Amino acid sequence: LKILFVSAEVYPLVKTGGLADISHALPKALRQLGVDVRVLLPAYPPVLDRLTLTCEHDKVNLLHSLPPVRVLAGMMPDNSFPVYALDCPQLYQRSGGLYQDQHGNDWGDNALRFGALSKLAALFGQHYFTFQPDIIHCNDWQTGLTATYLAYSANPVHARVVQSLHNMAYQGIFDPAIMSVLELPAVSFNMYGLEYYGAVSFLKAGIYYSHWLSTVSPTYAKEIQTATFGYGLAGLLRERNNQLQGILNGIDVDDWNPRTDSYLPFHYSSEDFTGKAKNKQALCQRLGLMHPEKPLIAMITRLTYQKGLDLVLPAIADILNEGAQLALLGSGDKSLEYQLQSLAKQYQGRLSITIGYDETLAHQLEAGADIFLMPSRFEPCGLNQLYSMRYGTIPLVRRTGGLADTVTDTTPATLDKGNATGFVFDAEDHHAILHSVQRALLTYRDKATWRQLQLNGMLHDCSWQQSAKAYMVLYQHVLS
Ligand code: ADP
Ligand code: GLC
Repeated sequence: LKILFVSAEVYPLVKTGGLADISHALPKALRQLGVDVRVLLPAYPPVLDRLTLTCEHDKVNLLHSLPPVRVLAGMMPDNSFPVYALDCPQLYQRSGGLYQDQHGNDWGDNALRFGALSKLAALFGQHYFTFQPDIIHCNDWQTGLTATYLAYSANPVHARVVQSLHNMAYQGIFDPAIMSVLELPAVSFNMYGLEYYGAVSFLKAGIYYSHWLSTVSPTYAKEIQTATFGYGLAGLLRERNNQLQGILNGIDVDDWNPRTDSYLPFHYSSEDFTGKAKNKQALCQRLGLMHPEKPLIAMITRLTYQKGLDLVLPAIADILNEGAQLALLGSGDKSLEYQLQSLAKQYQGRLSITIGYDETLAHQLEAGADIFLMPSRFEPCGLNQLYSMRYGTIPLVRRTGGLADTVTDTTPATLDKGNATGFVFDAEDHHAILHSVQRALLTYRDKATWRQLQLNGMLHDCSWQQSAKAYMVLYQHVLS
């Protein structure tokens, strides 16, 4: 079985969120199952700097508006899988973010940047290169045009396309003028095609033309077929309902292992929690939190509407008054960043706000915190609740998407059954957040129950083993 996995982000090379983690961990797990999976991504500066790449194909003509490109090949730094990088300096050699410039504005040529990536993936599907995949596994809007190029290909097509939906809120919607720049057939600009209210939607293209669709949790697979979560594409998803599967994300249990995590000053395990307490001490010191003896709640998050930060703001004073400390690491919405930073001044010593992206601090927060808060409005899967469970940090989450599928609320019944792992609430408001924090703090005082919750989470299998097998079954099914 040969799979080309196409993604705009791959940890540890380039990352803005969970997509990068998945684009590393899933191919790695598939390879361990004996699949010849290789990953295609753009040759951004860190990709060129960190990988040893050779030119596998030179002077590849992708689109008339671009100079010929190169396809580079190499191996991931941890030898987990081979990589192909699309080298087109005009599109990818720039400083700033993956999708946005330094000021937070989308790059003006994103349609071309990711249209080109999709076009190259489609050439792989026409068996134009030496690696001839059976399946092209596309991820999110950035790769959404692959299936369209293949659907209208003049050359024979040998591969089938699986399109994974990691987040319906990002669709890649562009002016119709890009149809000709991207050399898309005019017939595809249709309600029954990639047209979306008079614009071009990369994600709709992927949903419409792929052979099969997957998303990252069973609950999200159902939710996106409703108006609230489908972001305008619920009807189309309902039509394709029997070719849409929700497969829960796993986590990379090598990268996220409190016994060995190289970002942590102290290691620990489910047999010995001494290191966790020491990590908390060190973390509080690093963040200027004055009360290591108090319960510590952590958040690591993109600051966007999805993540529900605006719902936490009105609860912060009460949460601190309940006797907890709060530490947040995140970046995104400038107004949220500003509001959080002013609160941090007001509650110095009890509230720590770090604006930015910091992999080391992210691991130290997972290890040092007692509770991890995710009040997401929607969450296709979510990874931090899984990292938290593995680190003996109790997740407190809103019942949506993958959060609903992975965290079991603590009740007398689930405690008896031995599967309670966290605290789950329903309402989308600050009262619900505060109420579940109070529930968690009450349980925190009962040391034996708390330890039980920690152990339930730490011993729960969040690895990719099961889910990678589910993808294998899906690939076989799509091919049969
Ligand atoms: P999403 O992809 O929607 O942002 P996920 O929970 O799937 O949500 O994944 C988020 C990933 O990004 C996690 O690995 C998390 O630790 C990481 N992350 C998010 N914000 C930051 C940040 N500011 N610094 C470091 N890591 C971050
Ligand atoms: C998206 C989602 C997140 C999911 C991640 C990886 O970024 O927002 O919930 O875990 O993709 O699938």
